[in-house]
Amino acid sequence: MVKKYIFGKPFETDAVTAQIQPERSAPQIENARIETDKGFRFYYEMNDTDVIYGLGEANRGIDKRGYIYVSRCSDDPDHSEDKTSFYGAHNFIIISGVKNIGLFFDYPSDITFDIGYTGMNRIDISCGRADLYLYVIDGDSAYDVARQFRKIIGKSYIPPKYAFGFGQSRWGYKNADDIENVVKGYRGNKIPIDMVYLDIDYMDGYKDFTVDDRRFPDFPEFVKKMRSKNIRLIPIIDAGVKIEKDYDVYEEGVKYGYFCKREDGTDFTAAVWPGWTHFPDMLNADARKWFGRKYKRLIDQGIEGFWNDMNEPAIFYSKEGIDSLNEAIIEYADNLKSNEGDEETEGLPGKIKEAFENLQNSPDDYRRFYHNVNGKMIRHDMVHNLYGFNMTRAAAEAFEEIVPDKRILLFSRSSYIGMHRYGGVWTGDNKSWWSHILLNLKMMPSLNMCGFLYAGADLGGFGCNATRDLVLRWLAFGVFTPLMRNHAALGTRNQECYQFENVEDFCHIIKVRYRLIPYLYSEFVKAAENDDLYFKPLGFVYPDDRYAVLTQDQLMLGNEIMVAPVYTQNAEGRYVYLPEEMMFAKFLPDGSISRQIMEKGHHYVDIALNEVGLFIKKGKCIPLVDAALSVEEIDMSTLTMLGYDGAGYVFGED
Ligand code: GLC
Repeated sequence: MVKKYIFGKPFETDAVTAQIQPERSAPQIENARIETDKGFRFYYEMNDTDVIYGLGEANRGIDKRGYIYVSRCSDDPDHSEDKTSFYGAHNFIIISGVKNIGLFFDYPSDITFDIGYTGMNRIDISCGRADLYLYVIDGDSAYDVARQFRKIIGKSYIPPKYAFGFGQSRWGYKNADDIENVVKGYRGNKIPIDMVYLDIDYMDGYKDFTVDDRRFPDFPEFVKKMRSKNIRLIPIIDAGVKIEKDYDVYEEGVKYGYFCKREDGTDFTAAVWPGWTHFPDMLNADARKWFGRKYKRLIDQGIEGFWNDMNEPAIFYSKEGIDSLNEAIIEYADNLKSNEGDEETEGLPGKIKEAFENLQNSPDDYRRFYHNVNGKMIRHDMVHNLYGFNMTRAAAEAFEEIVPDKRILLFSRSSYIGMHRYGGVWTGDNKSWWSHILLNLKMMPSLNMCGFLYAGADLGGFGCNATRDLVLRWLAFGVFTPLMRNHAALGTRNQECYQFENVEDFCHIIKVRYRLIPYLYSEFVKAAENDDLYFKPLGFVYPDDRYAVLTQDQLMLGNEIMVAPVYTQNAEGRYVYLPEEMMFAKFLPDGSISRQIMEKGHHYVDIALNEVGLFIKKGKCIPLVDAALSVEEIDMSTLTMLGYDGAGYVFGED
């Protein structure tokens, strides 16, 4: 049962697609209190054993209890444990205990979820203005609540099948030769691969929808050549449009008034990768249409997939920010002159530091520009969390027009609930840290609850130097994530699979992915079509089993399997909790599979660096095919079954 409540004058975010008649009375939720006198505040007294699910792409556990989270799409590459905001804003939580309640706060600006942080048992959700829709869902279980929520937000995006293949990316591939070398590295070592990503260097001067023809002399021909090897090139598109005379996207945007404006009506200017840019007004339907149609340029050259980046939108600095910094420097210099030798001017010049730190992604800047929403000027900070959503929507809606019969791969860095209908997400600039394998795992079911099924992290880690064992372990988890992409930052150690010793180990792990693709893609499509989850916390399937509910490092996938990756260095296996009897199947490096029936309870399982393990439920089986070098080459006639009927018959054992 979903109830909708209106507070004040909410902004229409388009997160919810279902037509729900709003309630006339205030919400009556046991243990809850709502205040609207100073902004909006929702309090809830939790029971000691309540578990809180949700918040999509957020920090900490699958159980969000014990920390504070702020929905504010943020370009912050340091995903340390203390961070409160990442790139997505997904304001849906499930309180699960004796009762199971879902709450969606449809509010597109900063909103804080204090979940047992200030008071152990208190949920305190607050935002600056009492203008929002609140959806309250009553369900039989957390799983039921999540599914009811999914039903009201519309069907999830389904990518093309090739997008379930493996992809290699790196910020720093500069030209066609670099890309060819990557393909050679993979194909030469017989490691399956379907996609190579083009980061910003493919563009001419970081200008969206351009290709540098010195780096790619005949781009359409190159795309075709790659395609003949079953490789798709996936270019990045950034939010900021470079200010450059005669660059038509810039010229048109200015001419038609499609860029975000300052209060005085001038185009807001911010520096990002291309230098000075303007931001297309993604909240303006006409601008969205205009920007979306530009993707056609690359589609016409054979491109079949994109990743949308820097769309929080990220700002390195603005004109105004630079002015403040200049003023602080001048003031300091003047001070120096007039107080020569004065100790007060020594040490860290506070104002300069403050102005400098306030340059990047500054809240001041987010208050400096406006969107034209149906003729009304809306200050950006009031709708900040909708920018990436609408950039991705711009692209997806245009694809419907440009290539109506084709699925295009599309995923975004920034997102809000609702964007899941248009594309997937990757979880941004993580690091080559062991803890980030676990963070990747924890985000997946939470993202699924919020509709984002096509999701994944930068495998191997984006920032910092990766080690061989970390990449192998992370890939072994990535075998199961819909988006399986190895991506790394400029200047970090090379982390393509073929760069490490004993390449055959990497080859084996990625081959396991390809053996599972028919199963994984089919579970994915089922989840998308039935408003279901691809990844579930154990507590969704075994709500009465406290061990299962508290498990934070294993996931249920589809209806058949459980995954439990190794995420600690130098481990030779891990402890795992089986909420019921299951078969532990291990894909061994020689291509065979070991099978072991294990009873309900705690176990230690050995999993070597070059092995992939999974657990199959009793009475279930999954299809397997022979590995192939690309999704297109998968031979469905090689299909066999892996599983057991629980009455003595084990599939695939002769
Ligand atoms: C951002 C993206 C990252 C990309 C880089 C350069 O940091 O998150 O994935 O490699 O920009 O485009």
